[in-house]
Amino acid sequence: MSFNKKDFISINDLTASDIHHFIEIAKEFKKVSLKGIKKVPTLRGKTAINLFYEPSTRTRLSFEIAQKRLSADSLNIAVSQSSVIKGESLRDTILNLESMNPDVFVIRHGESGAAYFVSEVTKASVINAGDGTNEHPTQCLLDIMTVMEKKGDIKSLKVSVIGDICHSRVARSDIYGFAKLGAEICLYGPHSLLPKLIELKNVRIAESMEEALRHADVVIMLRIQKERASYYFIPSIEEYRNFFQLTPSLLSLSAKDVMILHPGPVNRDVEIAGSIIDDNKTHIFKQVENGVAIRMACLYILLSRQKN
Ligand code: CP
Repeated sequence: MSFNKKDFISINDLTASDIHHFIEIAKEFKKVSLKGIKKVPTLRGKTAINLFYEPSTRTRLSFEIAQKRLSADSLNIAVSQSSVIKGESLRDTILNLESMNPDVFVIRHGESGAAYFVSEVTKASVINAGDGTNEHPTQCLLDIMTVMEKKGDIKSLKVSVIGDICHSRVARSDIYGFAKLGAEICLYGPHSLLPKLIELKNVRIAESMEEALRHADVVIMLRIQKERASYYFIPSIEEYRNFFQLTPSLLSLSAKDVMILHPGPVNRDVEIAGSIIDDNKTHIFKQVENGVAIRMACLYILLSRQKN
């Protein structure tokens, strides 16, 4: 593996071989979560600060659990109760927190580029837990791990990404990550929510929901990003439901062993019928389980390159 960077900001920081290595390490750490005592001393004495400027359930909790399972000291800043509310800038917040000698910042922020900005300000490692509409690289790794567990190799798999692709950092990281491993990517959604420019040769746009589903090995469903004003790009939620919701009858067009993924949170009966989740036809909870293992691997790989 060639990865020897201070930070993990973009899935493009990783080569294909790095991605395989991260997932191999995650597979080992996944065993820790299945033991009676879910703790190893690997990162004892390391300090992690989780700084979430945007809401999160899965990512924030899984980073915290990952840090605790690796015996790192894990600190969470509730931005709404911090001096950010008094007007402190992101740069000043990081400089002040850096004075307490953390080893890693895990940051989620509404602005694209915020994680990179933080990585330039601090000597500590930085992991991007989602920045604006830009990237969510650890989500990409956990999605790839989930698919590999069932399908083996990613090469030549047909992966369809359906929904609000323009505003989705998950879509961007997944497209880059799966394409890097040789998957063929198909995008579908309202025209107003599709990227205008696709610069990767193995990415194409489908003409219909049926086309996006019929040939897919993996389908990644995305929610409408209402916090990024996506509702202004579609006529109404009713219309979106009618044309872009994954329903049981549309699902029946897919291969029997198609994998349905969704990064969460799900807006039930908007982008996906609730019954598809309740009937256990998705891998959503496996994705969440793998999220802990992937975040353990990311923390371990970044922090074990630091000097003690
Ligand atoms: N998948 C994801 O990023 O979920 P959260 O917003 O709950 O962290």
